[in-house]
Amino acid sequence: MIEERYHRPVLVREVVELLAVRPGIYVDGTLGGGGHAAALLEALRCSGMLGESLLVGIDQDDCALREAAGALRDYGDRARLVKGNFRDIAAIVDRVRKEAALPVTGILLDLGVSSFQIDTPGRGFSYRRPGPLDMRMDSGGKVSAADILNACEERELADIIFRYGEERRSRRIAAAICARRREQGPITRTEELSDIVRGVVGSPEQQLKSLARVFQALRIAVNDELGVLENALKDGAASLSLFGRMAVISYHSLEDRMVKRYFRELSEDDWGPRGVGLREPLRRAGFGIVTSRALTAGNDEVRKNSRARSAKLRVIEKKNPEGGTT
Ligand SMILES: C[S@@+](CC[C@H](N)C(=O)[O-])C[C@H]1O[C@@H](n2cnc3c(N)ncnc32)[C@H](O)[C@@H]1O
Repeated sequence: MIEERYHRPVLVREVVELLAVRPGIYVDGTLGGGGHAAALLEALRCSGMLGESLLVGIDQDDCALREAAGALRDYGDRARLVKGNFRDIAAIVDRVRKEAALPVTGILLDLGVSSFQIDTPGRGFSYRRPGPLDMRMDSGGKVSAADILNACEERELADIIFRYGEERRSRRIAAAICARRREQGPITRTEELSDIVRGVVGSPEQQLKSLARVFQALRIAVNDELGVLENALKDGAASLSLFGRMAVISYHSLEDRMVKRYFRELSEDDWGPRGVGLREPLRRAGFGIVTSRALTAGNDEVRKNSRARSAKLRVIEKKNPEGGTT
């Protein structure tokens, strides 16, 4: 039974059907409340593969690890929880592989924050809840959203809001943040930032969109979300054993674009420089794309879980031991 008080996982059936197809090591790099992890372990148990499998659950948030420990207690030593960042997936997998001597069969990244993190005012992730401007997913992280907001120059802030939030009014918002800083001192609360954004943007409908984009931008910057994803895609793919699969669920276009491009790159044969006219590729692709288009949630799931609305699932499979990662 999946625990949903903490976080309701999305696209669970699809993840299980596409990932839990052979025994081995499964890495859930974004364990959260352990919903996907429990579903994967249960599927392995039902198909008699649990004895030869091991699930390694990684999260950087102590609170998530505590929640997941409860959700996975029935699976005993088949589930191992690791406090860490999925950026370090290669080192974590290496350690487990040496101990367990099993192939690396599945990797799952369900990106972003959990409902519990968003709904906890003290974490500062949501413009809907008054709280400190924190936004660190890592319980021991050093730089908070307030640090960025109060230390960056206007131009840097505008770049962050434009690049990570894709917000057109980034310059005006950055200017308003800096003016407010000069006049009234540091900005430390979510409601203060919300007031500034509302003051710059016109209609209430537009305000909500801009608030979501500005908060997303700061969260991505605080947690270096695109940097760690780039690393994890590369090292995750390289860690897979033959026929191992990697599944990624993303929730916004910046992440999905990165996943889509990298999966495409991995699945293309290398024909060398253009115009050479080779008959055979220099190197065959190491991976095949399992989901030719991103899978999305059906209406029924979206009705029950609004978070599923923006979710996109992409999966690749290692099909050739010679093919490398770039
Ligand atoms: C969307 S939730 C995952 C929910 C999970 N699939 C479930 O079924 O409950 C994302 C989780 O990943 C964690 N996370 C995000 N980025 C991470 C990273 N780079 N390294 C480790 N954990 C990360 C967050 O702390 C959060 O708990």
